[in-house]
Amino acid sequence: MELSDFGQRFCGESGISSLMEDLGEALNNNPEILFLGGGNPARIPAFEALLAEHLKSISADENALHKLLGVYQSPQGNELFISQLADFFRQRYDWPVSEKNIAISNGSQSAFFILFNMLAGEGAVNKKVLLPLMPEYLGYREQIISPDAFAGTAAKIQLIGDTQFKYHIDFDALAINHNISAIAVSRPTNPSGNVITDHELQELNRLSINNNIPLLVDCAYGQPFPGVIYTEAKLQWQPNNIFVLSLSKLGLPGARTGIVVASEELIQQFSRANTVMSLACGNLGPQLASSLLQANSMNDICSTIILPYYQQKRQLMLGLLAQHFKGLAYRVHVSEGAFFVWLWFPELAVNSQQLYERLKKRNVLIMAGEHFFYGLEKSDVHSQQCIRLNFCQDEAVLDQALAIIVDELKKLHCL
Ligand SMILES: Cc1ncc(COP(=O)(O)O)c(C=O)c1O
Repeated sequence: MELSDFGQRFCGESGISSLMEDLGEALNNNPEILFLGGGNPARIPAFEALLAEHLKSISADENALHKLLGVYQSPQGNELFISQLADFFRQRYDWPVSEKNIAISNGSQSAFFILFNMLAGEGAVNKKVLLPLMPEYLGYREQIISPDAFAGTAAKIQLIGDTQFKYHIDFDALAINHNISAIAVSRPTNPSGNVITDHELQELNRLSINNNIPLLVDCAYGQPFPGVIYTEAKLQWQPNNIFVLSLSKLGLPGARTGIVVASEELIQQFSRANTVMSLACGNLGPQLASSLLQANSMNDICSTIILPYYQQKRQLMLGLLAQHFKGLAYRVHVSEGAFFVWLWFPELAVNSQQLYERLKKRNVLIMAGEHFFYGLEKSDVHSQQCIRLNFCQDEAVLDQALAIIVDELKKLHCL
C-alpha cells in the first residue's frame, strides 16, 4: 500500500506515539514496569469516590442517562456544560466571556490538532507557530500537516544553587516576522514543570496584540482546573487569547474532554472543523464536569483534593531525588507546576534516548528529554542531557526506579 504525504507523516513513529505505547504497556498490560514515563495523572481515591457518586446519580436519572449515551452533542458542545463554564469563568475568574466563546473537543490533543492546522501551514505564505519556551510539550510536535511549521526559541537557563535551574523566555531571541501566525505555550510547561511568570505572559500578550496574532495558552495542568501550580500565577483571558483546557489532568483522561476558550469567530470556525473531524464530542466528560459545576464543587476539588495530593507527591519526589542523587552531577528544574521533575545531567556520556533505552531494559520507563526540543534552528548539547520523570506513582515505585536510574548513571560516569 502506498501512503500519501499525510500518511507517511502521520503513520510513522513519533515521540508521542512511542510515549503512548509505553504508557499503554505499563498501565494496561505489564504492571511490573516502573512507570515514570508519560503524563497519566495519579489515581486519587477521594476524587474517584466523588466521581462514582456523580456517575451513580447520572445513571439513576433516565433523562441524564439518555443524554449520556443516546444523543450526539451539538457542534459547539453540550449546551448546559458550556453555559455553566461561561458562568464559572466570569464569576470566579472575571474573564469577559459568554457561551459563544467556548467550544468542547474530544480531548485537548485533538483541539490542538485543529487549532494549529487552522493557523499554520501552507497558505498564501507558509505560516508557523512560535513556541517561545523550548523545551515544550512533545505532543504538538507532529501535529501540523505541513512539515517544519513550528519555530522554537530555546529557553534561557538560570542556574540556581548547586542542584537547581530554571528556564526563562529569551525575549531578545524571539523573532516574530510575517511568517509567524500564532504563539503557543503550555503553562505549567510540560516537560519542565516551569510556570512562565505573569510578567512573561504579559509580554507574550503584548507581542500577540502588536502583531495581530493569537496567543494560545495550554492550561492542561494549570488554572482554572486542575490548578496543579505550586507558585503564584494569574491567568486572565482576553480576546487575543486561545486558552485550551482539559479534564484529563483533573483525573479524567479516559473521558477525552478538552475545552477551547477563544473569540466568537474562532469558536465558530473551530466547531465546524471539529464536526468535520469528529462529528460530535463524547458526552461523558461534559456531563460529569457539568455535574461537578452544578454542585459548585470544582474549585474545592482542585484546592482540597487535587493540589494537596500533588504537593505531597512533589515533596516526596524532591526528597527522594536529593537522597538518591547526592554527589551526582545533576540539576532539577524548579518544580512550579504539573507532576513531573525535569532533570539535567550536564555530564551525561550518552544522549537521553540512549539512557531511556538502557533504563527500559531494566524495567524503568522515563521520558527521554530530546523529543521535547524541536523547531529550533540549531540544537545544543543541553537538549540531549535531560529526562522527565512523572511522580504520580507510589513511593516504593519512585524509590526503586530512582535507585536503578542512579545505578545506570554511575555506570555512565555522571559522578
Ligand atoms: C501540555 C499538554 N497539553 C495537552 C495534552 C493533551 O491532553 P488531553 O488530550 O488528554 O486533553 C497533554 C497530555 O499529556 C499535555 O501534557
